[in-house]
Amino acid sequence: MIIVLMYICICNAITERQVKEAVSNGATSISDLQGQLGVASCCGACADTAIEYLPGGQYAGQSSMFATQVTRTAETAANDTDASPVRMPSYASLA
Ligand code: FES
Repeated sequence: MIIVLMYICICNAITERQVKEAVSNGATSISDLQGQLGVASCCGACADTAIEYLPGGQYAGQSSMFATQVTRTAETAANDTDASPVRMPSYASLA
């Protein structure tokens, strides 16, 4: 079994597992996560994701994804014919 380590907060190298552990130990707000782990204490880009692990959030109480689940998720996305292709700007249009 391969366990995927997913980082929630890149600035502080805080993983999903650490956030879930903090929530299971009583964290109920983003302030709790900031105080205990340092989540959302630098650029703040992770705050919305971290909030989803708190009680009432979409990831609250979910177990971690395993590699097979990630693969299935990626396959589903790759075969989604309704998805719009991502268009990258050319360097010429940015100049
Ligand atoms: S990614 Fe969490 S503070 Fe920047």
